[in-house]
Formats: sequence, C-alpha cells, structure tokens
Amino acid sequence: PLHVILDGDPGLDDAVAWLLALASPELKVLGVTTVHGNVDLSLTTRNAGVTLALGKSTDVPVYAGADRPLIRELMGAAAVHGDTGLPANGLPDPYREPEAEHAVNYLIRAAREQPGEVTLIATGPLTNVALAFRMEPALPQLLREVMWMGGSTAHGNRTPAAEFNVLADPHAADVVFRSGAALRMVGLNVTMQCVATPDRVEALRQLGTPVGLACAEMLTFYAAAYRRRYNLSGGALHDPLAVAAVLWPDLLTWQAMHVEVDTHEGADLGRTVCDLYGVTGKPANARVAVGVDDPTFFSRLLERLSRF
Ligand code: BDR
Ligand code: CA
Repeated sequence: PLHVILDGDPGLDDAVAWLLALASPELKVLGVTTVHGNVDLSLTTRNAGVTLALGKSTDVPVYAGADRPLIRELMGAAAVHGDTGLPANGLPDPYREPEAEHAVNYLIRAAREQPGEVTLIATGPLTNVALAFRMEPALPQLLREVMWMGGSTAHGNRTPAAEFNVLADPHAADVVFRSGAALRMVGLNVTMQCVATPDRVEALRQLGTPVGLACAEMLTFYAAAYRRRYNLSGGALHDPLAVAAVLWPDLLTWQAMHVEVDTHEGADLGRTVCDLYGVTGKPANARVAVGVDDPTFFSRLLERLSRF
C-alpha cells in the first residue's frame, strides 16, 4: 500500500476524509498530525483521537503540531464545525494521548526513514508543512507527493478571494507553493461540486454502523451551515475529495500550472492566483484539479465507509 500521513484540523469533513483513508486497503496511514484551523489545536488533536477510535485504528499515532499561524492571528471556523469541531452524539473517546514528539519533527523523521515513499495528505492550514519544509529543506524532495485540499481556481469561501485553509495561514501556503514539492491542489472549484445532499446523508445513516451514523450526524450539522452561508443543499465534501484524489486520481481532471498565494493584507489576501492559461510564462508548481466526477466519488466514498 501507499504510505500516507494525514495532516489536518478535524473538523467534520477532515474526520470523514480520514475515515475514507483508514477504510482503504490501498493506503497505509503511518500517522496523523494535527494543526490549528477549524478549532483550536487542543480540540483538533482530541478529535484526531476520536476519529481514529471511530475508525478502529488505534494503532495509528497522533502528533500535535502548530497551534497558530506563522504570522497572522488565529482564525477558526466554529460557525461551520461547531464549538468542539466534531458536533455529533455518541462519538467514542479518543483512544489515547498524542505522542510527545511534535508533528513537525515527526513529518521530517517519517520522510527521512522512507525517502520518496511518503504521501502527505493535508486538509487544513499548511503551518506544519511549511515549518517542516523550513527545518528540513530537503523535505519537499523526500516526500513522494503533497496532496492538499485548499485554495480555488475561482473564488473563496472565507472571503470572496480566499479559501479557509489558505486564509488561516497564507504565509505557510506561500512557503509550500514555492517549495518545489510535488504538489497537487484540490480546491473549492471542484470540492463545492461534491455536496452531501440529504439523500446522501440518509444513505450513510442507512449503513446502520457506528461510522455510518456518526458521518450522517456530522454531515447533518455541517449541512446547516452550508445552507445558511452558501445556499447549498448540504455540506461540501472538501477534505474527503483530497483523499479520494490519492486513491483514484482519475476521478478528477488535473492541469499543471503556476499558482501564487497572495500574502498582501487586503481584499485579496489568501487568494490562490492560478495561472490557468499560462499567461505569466512561469513554470508550473502544482497540478490543480479542474474537474471532478462527483457521482462516482460519492458512490466510492459510501462503499468504503460501509466497510467499517
Ligand atoms: C476547508 O476548510 C475547512 O473548514 C474544511 O475542513 C476544509 O478543509 C474548506 O474550505
Ligand atoms: Ca479541514
């Protein structure tokens, strides 16, 4: 199987994404690393343990990482993910305490132990990844690939220009896009097409398993915010699509292009400026998802979650 590390800020859709990874025999999850984001680091770290317990993966270690962005003030998304980040009843307790080692040290150690073998799937602000790239300048080359949910070729969701994971640490995203890592970006331009509609939530509930019921509950809470804020019939399955992109790259269409993160304070802060037409002449630094087969994605997600 492909060796992966999951870095994120669970978070409702992060939790569903991690469950997809844990259910998939093509992937071996070496560890999970947590970052500030949807809620505070202490909560994302606790939620990581809850998610692993739910996914019967208590052998997977949790490493806590950065508790704030590199430069900006801490943001958060409790309006979308609830005060705890995992608002659902009947979730298990976290299976154990996080490891003593910092997430950034772990990322470097894991990549050095298996050069060229480890895929990093990042579904939150990129603070841990940027810090690790600074501490070990060879890390971008040591990783097999970085798959990141964030940004957009079009508009944002936190501001008209910026997607949440970028705006929560634009300077970190800038470091990663300049790093030379093999980078793929799954942004809002595709993830907003993948909506957990009421029918889909019901299909998860019908699985009748603890994971099915938990996902249905989580996505029900999440849907309320998406109805209110974005006039969608359910929550967008952002982070699960990034895991699916590693499992089944053909679900998406990819275009190599130059992407620059706007780090200037102002209305465009956090915009991923995507050179779709190559007008800058700058070399591509990422492969960006520009299309998605949403029905196939959801049917595969449902099938995988049914395996628990
Ligand atoms: C991203 O922001 C977070 O709230 C979600 O978990 C996802 O990673 C979508 O913009
Ligand atoms: Ca996330």
